[in-house]
Amino acid sequence: MPEFIPLISEEEIKARIQETGEKITKDYKDRDLVLIGVLKGSFVFLADLTRKISIDHEIDLIGASSYEGTTSTGQIIFTKQPDLELEGRDVLLVEDIVDTGNTLLKIVDFIRLLNPRSIKICSLIDKQERREVEINVNYSCFSLDKGFIVGYGLDYNEKYRNLPAIYDLKL
Ligand code: IMP
Ligand code: MG
Repeated sequence: MPEFIPLISEEEIKARIQETGEKITKDYKDRDLVLIGVLKGSFVFLADLTRKISIDHEIDLIGASSYEGTTSTGQIIFTKQPDLELEGRDVLLVEDIVDTGNTLLKIVDFIRLLNPRSIKICSLIDKQERREVEINVNYSCFSLDKGFIVGYGLDYNEKYRNLPAIYDLKL
């Protein structure tokens, strides 16, 4: 049986998202903000974050898949492209976790082709230990050194996204 070690509580998550939402609200005042959630892991975070941003903004989704189990295949497949017109707009990519950074780098390259005014990154977790590419996470709620975590949208083989807090998974 896998073991779930509590890492970040619901209360801690809530408090950090409140702060992050307030910061984004300030930074994007007078901008044309579009949040683009990266499927599927960001869906819980995105739903909570959008409600803590009090300026007008729009929401879209992008689907990119690169993981099997706990190891990266190094390949990315776009399963969903944004529907909104992004030209001249301020895109904030919303991720669950940035690990090697390979997925996000490819997503940023793709979004750049759509000519937005700006592209920034907001990630619930910034996991730096295995970073392989240079990528600047502009807003991160939590940093993690190592481990594989689940819950609050994050999965292991599609399971455990429903857990309300974040756990270190020991297989
Ligand atoms: P990267 O391309 O290595 O940065 O991988 C990013 C994606 O891998 C994330 O968006 C997650 O879907 C998945 N991922 C990486 N680390 C974890 C983890 O600790 N738990 C769950 N999913 C993870
Ligand atoms: Mg993801």
